Amino acid sequence: MKAIILYDSRSSNGSTEAVIDAIGLGLAESGVYVEKAKCKAMSDYSFVKDFDLVILGAPVYYFIVASQLLGALIHGNLKKNLKRKKIALFLTCGSSETMAAVLYLPQLKIHLIRNKILAEKIFAAEALSDGSVDLFVEDLLFEYNKAPKSKALSAKWTVEAQEWFQSMPSFMQGRFRTMAEEYAEDMGYKEITLEVLEEARDNLGGT
Ligand SMILES: Cc1cc2nc3c(=O)[nH]c(=O)nc-3n(C[C@H](O)[C@H](O)[C@H](O)COP(=O)(O)O)c2cc1C
Repeated sequence: MKAIILYDSRSSNGSTEAVIDAIGLGLAESGVYVEKAKCKAMSDYSFVKDFDLVILGAPVYYFIVASQLLGALIHGNLKKNLKRKKIALFLTCGSSETMAAVLYLPQLKIHLIRNKILAEKIFAAEALSDGSVDLFVEDLLFEYNKAPKSKALSAKWTVEAQEWFQSMPSFMQGRFRTMAEEYAEDMGYKEITLEVLEEARDNLGGT
């Protein structure tokens, strides 16, 4: 497996980089090839396609997730290159986990609704000594190994979903089938039900 940690931080050798190095070490010890790269909003992120797992991490400054990572998702081509990628997220910040989960993590997650997020974590200042980095790595590897590997789209359609699909105008069916199957694959669904189709429509927009 090849993983890349994409991050941002205003500090050189600050707490975010320390957490990244600890995550990298944990993954490498489990046989994962790991690279890290500091984000610039307008960089070209097409290299991300070469990795099986993308970990996005950043600190929070003045209630906002560090700007180059957010900028890469909002203004750059990172989001496009994350399509169908398995990802994990982490933040470093001074706030409580509960507050950060409500205020800060959604700033990233709102741009990643089409991705399978394997693990997410808020790291506090003591993250390097309290074992939370090791737990994050463990959780991440467990979820990665559990997630479907094959690129083949394998979700089965239920009879109701199939009937609904066939009631669509035929010129829309091809594109819709691909979209629904990719969505199910991204989300780890084994079955395409009416509920999955509704969820895909709500999250992706369109029909
Ligand atoms: C200028 C500044 C602003 C910060 N603002 C916040 C904030 O709004 N919310 C928060 O939870 N933590 C905040 N923090 C704490 C940082 O997110 C935390 O210390 C983080 O680990 C710093 O990462 P770094 O060492 O890579 O810069 C702030 C820290 C600094 C230096």
